[in-house]
Amino acid sequence: MEGLVRVLEAAFTAASGGFRKTIGAQSVVSPAQAGGFVIGHALPFGNCGLEPGEPVIGEDGLPTLVMGGSGRGKTTYVRRSTAFEFTNGRTVVSLDFRGDGNRDICRDLAAMGSDAPPTALLDAGSETHVPPFDFLGHGGGSAFSRASVMRDVFKEVAEGWGVRIAFNALVAFLACAELGLGLTEIREILAPDGRLREYALERITDPATAASLRDYCSLTTEAQSTQWQEIANKLHAWIFQEDMRLMLGADSAPDLRRMLDVPGNVTLVSLGVSKVPAAALMGKLLVSAIVRHVMARAEVEKSDRPFFRLYVDELSNLGHIGGLEEILAEGRRLGASITGAFQESSQIPASLLRSFRANAATQIYFAAGAAEAAEAAAEVASDLPREAVRQEIMSLKTGQAIVVRRGLPAAKVQMPDFPVPTVSEAQLQRFTERALDAGCPTRETVRSILAARERWLVGLGDSACKPSIDHGRRPGRKRGSDE
Ligand SMILES: Nc1ncnc2c1ncn2[C@@H]1O[C@H](COP(=O)(O)OP(=O)(O)OP(=O)(O)O)[C@@H](O)[C@H]1O
Ligand SMILES: [Mg+2]
Repeated sequence: MEGLVRVLEAAFTAASGGFRKTIGAQSVVSPAQAGGFVIGHALPFGNCGLEPGEPVIGEDGLPTLVMGGSGRGKTTYVRRSTAFEFTNGRTVVSLDFRGDGNRDICRDLAAMGSDAPPTALLDAGSETHVPPFDFLGHGGGSAFSRASVMRDVFKEVAEGWGVRIAFNALVAFLACAELGLGLTEIREILAPDGRLREYALERITDPATAASLRDYCSLTTEAQSTQWQEIANKLHAWIFQEDMRLMLGADSAPDLRRMLDVPGNVTLVSLGVSKVPAAALMGKLLVSAIVRHVMARAEVEKSDRPFFRLYVDELSNLGHIGGLEEILAEGRRLGASITGAFQESSQIPASLLRSFRANAATQIYFAAGAAEAAEAAAEVASDLPREAVRQEIMSLKTGQAIVVRRGLPAAKVQMPDFPVPTVSEAQLQRFTERALDAGCPTRETVRSILAARERWLVGLGDSACKPSIDHGRRPGRKRGSDE
């Protein structure tokens, strides 16, 4: 008997990659999970083919959709699934528009002590650090693609973004993207007294951008002033709000190669949209950059595309992202998958929801109101009548869900609770500081970058009478580190 236990233990350890980790007092992986992630344990539900109590295993490497009303267990599921990934040495990015889920994940990781994977925290609510979100001048991809993403994202968030605004903004975005300038410098390109015009016209190599900028600069001062104001009015929340200016002017963007191509790295991005609503833009830009990075993986060897999973809690903040649907469909081939959690389907662009549903290997429905439950019931393959399924979804308790798995009858599951572990404040602070340092420059560093740039701009503005000023190089962080 003892021998058998040893054989079983050895098999479990091998199947789980030698994994034997715990978070606080709880083991993250039970023996049943050695074969995959246990979503929960079956409860009676029609003729689902599972005995009550049997584990319901999620499919690996494919998109997962998590839906349900407030306080039903979505974030708890996301945290538990994230813990499963990182304790198994997988690369994880957790994008949390609110920030509460990532705060708890920090506790999960801190509780692992020296077993915790390398973690970077990009927290828009940090009082000491600034997530570097200069996705216009940096962040990989061509200048054209970075400028186009910026234009598309702003078009989506700014109401009444007319043709003229779209075109002028695109010209300025293209100029900034080619020269490695941030969104914070757009004024210096477009305002009639912009100090970067001459600098830009001398250096831009793309002929179409240079010609369009020359046309703009040849407009009357009044026309330029009106057109700049139209754009400033649309961008005000991003270029006039200090926290946003620091993030967008940080002169670097997250290093996606370190974030996505290094097995086992964990990146937590917390945006705190309730404090700075405009911060949702950063999530859109980040996901657009991730999508570009994943698409570019088609060109690299399979061995250079380690699998990663992107978790997006409060998916409704993401809106439409060009290319995301392709990632949902082809992500597995490219080594990427997404888990998205949200409350109401009406908050998600219809095409994204359709694509999520078409490609998700697993859909998890927690309790929801009548209308959402009716929509969810239409997704559930069961011998029960649809109305009975809708009633089941409406009456689920916290931590219970209907799980839809491709090619299998739907199951009703009870998920284990996953309490946030107790860690001392000192331990948490040590962990958080290290993770922030790994992900972000300090506020002080970014402020000094912005101050140096302002001095440089003053020099450029005065260049007519001060020819000795070096126009060759804009001050900033070390070049080439994030491209
Ligand atoms: N499987 C579970 N068993 C017991 N309690 C649970 C379970 N899952 C979640 N809970 C409890 O329910 C509460 C709400 O959970 P959670 O934050 O995950 O909900 P949510 O769906 O993300 O809510 P919101 O939409 O407000 O973000 C938590 O306090 C958590 O401890
Ligand atoms: Mg939540």
